[in-house]
Amino acid sequence: MTLLAPFNIAEPQIFHLPDEDATARLGGLIAPQLKPGDVIYLHGDLGMGKSALARGLIRALTTLEQEVPSPTFTLIQSYDTLSFEVLHLDLYRLTDPEEAYELGLDEARSHAVLVIEWPDRLGHLGFDDRLDIVLEVPDITNFPLAAGGRIARLTPHGGFRGS
Ligand SMILES: Nc1ncnc2c1ncn2[C@@H]1O[C@H](COP(=O)(O)OP(=O)(O)OP(=O)(O)O)[C@@H](O)[C@H]1O
Ligand SMILES: [Mg+2]
Repeated sequence: MTLLAPFNIAEPQIFHLPDEDATARLGGLIAPQLKPGDVIYLHGDLGMGKSALARGLIRALTTLEQEVPSPTFTLIQSYDTLSFEVLHLDLYRLTDPEEAYELGLDEARSHAVLVIEWPDRLGHLGFDDRLDIVLEVPDITNFPLAAGGRIARLTPHGGFRGS
């Protein structure tokens, strides 16, 4: 487990995030490394900080004042940044992966970055080349100094950054 400092998203990482600010800062450290076509899967139970991470990421690419509501009901929120569009999705309410077709994600990916909460809802329509981020409560048996907060595990998957 490393301290939260600039890192390369092409390599696996584990961070301890003591509070919500740290979760947002992790998003802010990922943001400048992104390019159109990148897909980020945000895994973790309800309330693990997926939206907080997405908010930090999007604010780093727009402005600190940018409103970033959870897309729980809208499914998808779009943000224009200087160089590409960011689509923030929360697929919790998706009941059938076929509904994902209607979101046009394959086409959107050609010009946008996709940040997806509850990506398992995509089923067989999911993306193979992606950055997986798992947010969880620390297991203090393995991380005795990390009581409280969250653990973030980043794993490039498929051909993400040539991995
Ligand atoms: N590192 C952290 N340590 C402690 N609390 C945190 C941390 N990061 C975020 N939180 C808290 O977790 C709560 C839930 O955050 P958030 O809405 O981002 O979760 P979520 O994973 O998106 O949930 P959902 O699955 O419902 O969309 C917030 O109250 C936030 O303050
Ligand atoms: Mg959320």
